[in-house]
This record gives sequence, structure tokens and C-alpha cells, in this order.
Amino acid sequence: MTARSSLTIVLAAGEGTRMRSKLPKVLHPVAGQSLLAHVLAASPKGKNDALAVVIGPDHTAVADEIKRLRTDARIFIQRERLGTAHAVLAARDAIVSGADDLLVVFGDTPLISAATFERLRAALKDGAALAVLGFRAEDPTGYGRLLLEGDRLIAIREHADCSEAERGIDLCNAGVMAFDGRKALEIIEKIGCANSKGEYYLVDAVAVVRELGWEAVVIETSEDEVRGINTKAQLAEAESVMQARLRKQAMEAGVTLIAPETVFLAADTTFGSDVIIEPFVVIGPGVSISDGAVIHSFSHLVQARIGKNASVGPYARLRPGTSLGDGARIGNFVETKAATLDAGVKVNHLSYIGDAHIGANANIGAGTITCNYDGFAKHRTEIGEGAFVGTNSSLVAPVKIGAGAYVGSGSVITKDVPADALAVERSPQTNREGGAKRIREMKMRDKTPKA
Ligand code: UD1
Ligand code: MG
Repeated sequence: MTARSSLTIVLAAGEGTRMRSKLPKVLHPVAGQSLLAHVLAASPKGKNDALAVVIGPDHTAVADEIKRLRTDARIFIQRERLGTAHAVLAARDAIVSGADDLLVVFGDTPLISAATFERLRAALKDGAALAVLGFRAEDPTGYGRLLLEGDRLIAIREHADCSEAERGIDLCNAGVMAFDGRKALEIIEKIGCANSKGEYYLVDAVAVVRELGWEAVVIETSEDEVRGINTKAQLAEAESVMQARLRKQAMEAGVTLIAPETVFLAADTTFGSDVIIEPFVVIGPGVSISDGAVIHSFSHLVQARIGKNASVGPYARLRPGTSLGDGARIGNFVETKAATLDAGVKVNHLSYIGDAHIGANANIGAGTITCNYDGFAKHRTEIGEGAFVGTNSSLVAPVKIGAGAYVGSGSVITKDVPADALAVERSPQTNREGGAKRIREMKMRDKTPKA
């Protein structure tokens, strides 16, 4: 038996004005990824599954994000915002291709899971013409209410159109629906706009299904899965739910989180086995942490690869393009950017390593700075295997320190250092015998009160 085919339509033409932001609503991030990216990640993506996204006119940034995430997605534009059913029909060309299951989801519900889509699809397989995702809302204000007769779903009423009694219902419409693909267009085209807003409401599909003598069912899920984001406060709530989920997943995969509630992860963070993350660590997008690595407290990592048994922090900042080899050590107050540190490299204290490559087992002393920027362009620093850079050295890029070379502390290195050479760039030291004593005596005389 071949798997049922599906078409998912993501509605993302909303204005999102309550976000009070220039950024389109669906591009706001949760756990380092856009709301839209989360929804697209959860929607079916097998070889029999197609995807369409409905966006507003002039939403080029949204279109770019869709193309980046799913090259197979078809993008449709809803020119006028006449309601959710109208938005679905903007994707009519995709609907007529005739998938077995038509799934409709809002682009602002980032917590939705792939398993829920499967539950809705299973209801279609069992013969329903329409399966609606419902949830019990703590505060149902604003949500469409699911009206039941016994356990049969007969209609969805938008909050504004509800009677006083109907407002008491806490079973709400989550906004995700699954239609039998052969019936979907007939149902959605019958939806009118006789409501207080005069919009074409997708929720009226339930009443249409009943009129046509078909069956509509409710599949229930938890409120945390279907929180829709309309405001910055709701964005923060979704972040908190997502973080709790990611921490739980990480711990289930064997990561030790000493104080999970203080660790922030990204949706794409990957872990090897026996990783330890100490309290108060922030991990942004694009981070992979290999077996046995330890991330000490107060570290901040973005787009960084951490090798096996490497150690980071406390108080380290790993910026995009950082790659740490196995057993590498980054200590406190060290910042790295576009830097590859091979196995066993140590940068233990107070350094900036940017646009650099450091060969295996090199030791970079406290306070070393790669001077990568001259105010106009960025330049590279190459440090060979086993090199030793003394503390408080400035490496003025572009510059190469050869393998096994030694740089004396406090040097400002502007010329390449050959392999195994010793480079010292500082004034020769002079010691004046008894000089300190003479200075002390002079100062004491100055301090003695004049008679
Ligand atoms: C909608 C539901 C409501 C449900 C709630 C769940 C309808 C009519 N109402 O209400 O029953 O409880 O979601 O969060 O479906 N959109 C378009 N084009 C339009 C209108 C909307 O693309 O013309 C998109 C929006 O971008 C958004 C989604 O559809 O992603 C829902 O629209 P929104 O205005 O947020 O509906 P709610 O009032 O939240
Ligand atoms: Mg909404």
C-alpha cells in the first residue's frame, strides 16, 4: 500500500501588527529559528507530501525564508486579507493537484509537532471529511469555540459571534485542520462571510461539512502545543515552552544539565554523548557539541563546532565560524570568531582569536589578541602546530607564526615568524642597581613636612 499523499498549506499572510515590529510576525525567532521554520519542520515532508505557503503582498523577506528552508515549497500571495478561508483558496492551484489529505496550519503556531499532523491524518483515514485540532484553553477569550452535540462536532463559533453561554465553552479551535483532499475544495468554496467581521472564516468548514452530510471530528491536544503568537508576550511564552522541550530532549539524549532552567538551547543544537553543560549557558543557532565536551558557566555560543572532550569557559564567547578540535580548551574571557583551533589547542585566558587557524597543541598565552581588522578589511592569522605565543602578544594580521615557534610575551608581531624561531619584539630590559631604594628615599624626603 502506498502512503497517502498530503498537501500542507501554511497561512502566513497575517499583518502581525500587535507585535509592534518591522519584522514580519512569522520571522520572529523562537529557540533561534523563525516561527515559520518551526511550522515547516513539523509539517509532513515525505516524498508524497507537498507544501504551499500563503503570504501577504510585499512579503519578500518571508518568501526568502521559505525558499531557504524548503526549496520544494510553492508560494502563493493573498492580495487582500479577507479571512482564513479566503487565504486557503489563494493556494487553489496546489489544492487542485489533488492530494489525499489537505492540512491547513497557521504560520504563527511554532510549537506544533509532527505527531499531531499524523493524528489528524489518521482521523481522515478513518473516514472523517474534516478533522479539527482542539484544546482546552486556560483563558478561551479570543479563540473560536468548538460546539459539540454529544461528542459530535457541529460548528466552530468565533469569539465575537458567540452567545454568553457559548463563551463559557473552553474547548477551542487550535487553527490546524485536516480535510479529505477529494472534498476540500467543495467544502471551502461553500464558506460564506456572514459573521460580525464579514470575513471568510475557515472555521465555518465544520458547519458546511455537516450540511453536506459528512463527518467532522475533533482531535484534542494540549494548549502548549498550539499557542498562537500575536504579541511579544506570547512570543516569550512560546520560547519558554520550547526551551523546556529542548532541555528535556537533551537530557533524554544523555546530556547533563546541572540547572536545566538556566540553559538556553537552539532548536538545531546537536549533542554527542556525555556532554556536560553547567548553569547559565546560552547556545544560539548552529552549534554542535561532541562527546565528552564540557561547557562551563556563563558561556555564549553561536554557530560553533565543539570537538570531543573540548572544554569551553567559564565566561567564553564563541562566535560564528568557530571550530574547536578534540580536547581543545577555551578558558575564561576568551572570544573566538571564524577561528579553527585544531586538537589540543589551549587558549585559556583573556584572548581574542578572530579569522585565524591554530595548529594542533599550540598554546596561546593570556591576553593574546589577533589584530584582524585594520578599519577597512579583515585579515588572517595562521599559527602552526605546537607554537607557543607568550602572554599579552598582539598578532597583527595578516601574519603567520610557524610551527613550533615561540613568541616572547608582550610582543607586537607584524612580520611572519619562521618555524621553530623565537620572536621577541619589545625594548630591552635595563636594571639599575639600587634604583628602587633611591626613588623611595626621594619620595620620603618630599613627604617630610618642611620646617
Ligand atoms: C484563528 C481562528 C480561531 C482560532 C485561532 C487560534 C479563524 C477565523 N479563526 O483566529 O478559531 O481559535 O485562530 O489561534 O480561522 N490569515 C491569512 N489571511 C487572512 C486571515 C488570516 O493568511 O486573510 C492567517 C494569519 O496570518 C494567521 C492565521 O491566518 O497566521 C490566523 O489568523 P488570525 O487573524 O490570527 O486569526 P485568529 O483571530 O487568531
Ligand atoms: Mg491568531
